Amino acid sequence: MPVAVLRGTGGALPPRRVTNDELAARLATSDAWIVERTGIRARHLAPPGMCTSDLAVAAAQAALVAAGTPAQAIDLVVVATSTPDRTFPATATAVQARLGITGGAAFDLQAVCSGFVYALAVADSLLRTAAYRRALVIGAELFSRILDWDDRATAVLFGDGAGAVVLEAMEPAEAQGRGILAARLRADGRYGDLLYVDGGPGTTGTVGRLRMQGREVFRHAVVNLADIVHETAILAGVSVADIDWLVPHQANRRIIEATARKLGLPMERVIVTVDEHANTSAASVPLALDQGIRDGRIRPGQLCLLEAMGGGFTWGAVLLRI
Ligand code: UT7
Repeated sequence: MPVAVLRGTGGALPPRRVTNDELAARLATSDAWIVERTGIRARHLAPPGMCTSDLAVAAAQAALVAAGTPAQAIDLVVVATSTPDRTFPATATAVQARLGITGGAAFDLQAVCSGFVYALAVADSLLRTAAYRRALVIGAELFSRILDWDDRATAVLFGDGAGAVVLEAMEPAEAQGRGILAARLRADGRYGDLLYVDGGPGTTGTVGRLRMQGREVFRHAVVNLADIVHETAILAGVSVADIDWLVPHQANRRIIEATARKLGLPMERVIVTVDEHANTSAASVPLALDQGIRDGRIRPGQLCLLEAMGGGFTWGAVLLRI
């Protein structure tokens, strides 16, 4: 059976970096509160007119260059997003068209902050059937468009961005141990009301705004994430101690630290971008992976564990050898 091997990564952020102090000028908050409770120092926010596919295309182009793969060789485009350009068609088809890809399949996947991990697991399954050869898997979000900018409890937490990876199906002999080794996805819809958007085409006919009971989400996150990392490691037959890099969803530095502590992984083996990106939902894991690879920390041959949890609740993890 073929293996899905990571060929390249890319990231894109809107140019405007917004500090906590800028937000504190219009909301009852402070840089000290935000840094202490979340580790966030800044986020990038999109200008009016920029859309999710703009960021997705930029991240995809960077990933294609890193992979040395021409866009036309891609036969599967999956975009994980909760902030699509339009209700339909899928943002993935807009990305496909703008990259000049005319063959294969393209679709969006919606699992909020777990979206990229879900999309990676789905792309891995499709590549392993040998029906597709090269996948572009993208997490892209403009959460600034669905925030309630008068709610200090959520407005300070999120940012805009996109991250992308190119996966290629290879025979095991060619892959030489590289590729996605295991993936595990979970959901529990009983917790849907703890993190949701209060609108949608099927209910209010409006886009709606993000609502969250942060403390409750926090409580579930650490337990669920530590559990799913263990489950994924067991599936792959590796020990958690063998993981070279934890690439976690970037919602809150305290969640990342508590999860790493529960797993017995030192913070020196964890990629953290929440300080500069804030929570970019489905874009956070591929942006962190891209950063770790580009700055030379994550090297070929190393074991990386990607994990995320978000609205739904949904959560999941993917273990891959770079
Ligand atoms: O990506 C999907 C998953 N999402 C997450 O993982 C988010 C998980 N949750 C969290 O990261 C944290 O719960 C938050 C960062 C959202 C909140 O931190 P917390 O330590 O749980 O604070 P809290 O909600 O318990 O609020 C503590 C206090 C409250 O005031 P009182 O009631 O104690 O007087 C809040 O009103 O902090 C207040 N507060 C703020 N103060 C200044 C809430 N937001 C702010 C703010 N600035 N921005």
